[in-house]
Amino acid sequence: MPISTPPTSIVIFGASGDLTQRKLIPALYNLCVRERLDPSTRIIGFARRPYSHAEFRTLMHAAVKQFTPASYSDVAWANFAPRLSYVQGNLNLAEDYTRLDEFLREREGGANISRLYYLATAPEFYAPCVELLAAQGMATEDTAPRRIVIEKPFGHDLASAQALNRTVLAAFAEQQVYRIDHYLGKETAQNIAYFRFGNTVFENVWNRNYIDHVQITVAETVDVGNRAGYYDGSGVLRDMFQNHLLQLLAQVAMEPPASFKATPIRNEIAKVLSAVRPLTPETLPEQVVLGQYTGYCQTERVRPNSRTPTYAALCLYIDNWRWQGVPFYLRSGKAMQTKVSEIAIQFREPPRAIFPPETRHSLNPDVLSLCIQPDEGIHFRIDAKLPGTIAETRSVDMTFHYADLGEFSTLPEAYERLLMDALIGDAALFIRGDAIEMAWALVDPIIAAYEQDDRLPVHRYAYGSWGPDAGHELLRCSGREWLNLCGTHPPGGHPH
Ligand code: BG6
Repeated sequence: MPISTPPTSIVIFGASGDLTQRKLIPALYNLCVRERLDPSTRIIGFARRPYSHAEFRTLMHAAVKQFTPASYSDVAWANFAPRLSYVQGNLNLAEDYTRLDEFLREREGGANISRLYYLATAPEFYAPCVELLAAQGMATEDTAPRRIVIEKPFGHDLASAQALNRTVLAAFAEQQVYRIDHYLGKETAQNIAYFRFGNTVFENVWNRNYIDHVQITVAETVDVGNRAGYYDGSGVLRDMFQNHLLQLLAQVAMEPPASFKATPIRNEIAKVLSAVRPLTPETLPEQVVLGQYTGYCQTERVRPNSRTPTYAALCLYIDNWRWQGVPFYLRSGKAMQTKVSEIAIQFREPPRAIFPPETRHSLNPDVLSLCIQPDEGIHFRIDAKLPGTIAETRSVDMTFHYADLGEFSTLPEAYERLLMDALIGDAALFIRGDAIEMAWALVDPIIAAYEQDDRLPVHRYAYGSWGPDAGHELLRCSGREWLNLCGTHPPGGHPH
């Protein structure tokens, strides 16, 4: 039974941009194919380029064909296309918002139609757009919900995120605001909570008594490519850690919420982020490694002597009863050897070694690995005795793959889920204002240490490698190593 969403005017600000074509329109098209959109729901593009409705539809047609080819059909497109229209306007001009509002009112025909404003613009337009929507009375919920989705980056540092929160919350109430992090829309990220709180087995060992450490890796093979101009002013801490990696950490480490609703979930996320021990000038050098791939400074639009890190590895601690003393190692980088997003949980060794010494040496700690992408699934590495031997053991891998779920094996794009949630008013997978600020407070000292002075070295690493040696040393110095179970399969295992 498809979940239906209420009749809504979805207004995409910055509709001529990349995000609209690559993600938003294909996701809305797929929601339409899956009968999730109400027949009265309309999608209105708003941007400066002078498109007619027909020209906008033609552009979006090409985007849908290109970015969601598997679900494309002429019939489905013909069904979707009439929902699209376009209003030309300047994001800084009040009268253009008035025109937009008139256009929407006419379309809505006085009916109680919800509105979803999607800010897919460059970040410098977030504040003016929000202010002008409020000034035109377009944020007021007289007859139906008015919601706003704000893309990342939400701020550039703590101070700018606080300022943006102030502006946004002067115009909209917190429950109208949907700050997006597309990692939370990924099925595999959502499954972390189901895995932990929907099974009794794991939650009992999900703490410092049983877990030695946790690793979160988000590695990409791509380099900064044609986003170099943006990236050089941003770097991996802003681009990946402040949002995606810290949100994954929160999913792994948070306490069970009282119910699976937005407020209790977001309370727990805020609680755990507020318990992450802040990095200080004294701890930074021991807990943070930065890297930059070779050739980065030769990229067009990158400053020739840029110190912007394209890789970082962090060791964080969470000061609460559950996690006291357990290191959380986080790493992410561009131009790495493999594309993989993985959470690996390494369990402690058994309290007493009862096997003969030769067996003991071949035993490995148990590892549970949650593979976010691309090998979506779960691996559990345990030791087993080799049949026919006296006491030889080997690590074996118990696996689950989404690909084996038959009719459910196709994973929807994160944006489909997030757009649907915003349409029905469920903010559980969106970031609350306080959590955004807490995440900035955690990464700000690292950014300051390499941007404002040279307190942190930025190590070079070979393009296509696993990052600088110092990133390995971060774990090695305590006898640990980075794990990569995603994509590994036991002999005769599943050939994904
Ligand atoms: C974005 C970053 O938020 O996430 C990009 O700005 C990065 O730099 C991307 O490539 C990674 O997302 P995904 O879904 O491909 O893992």
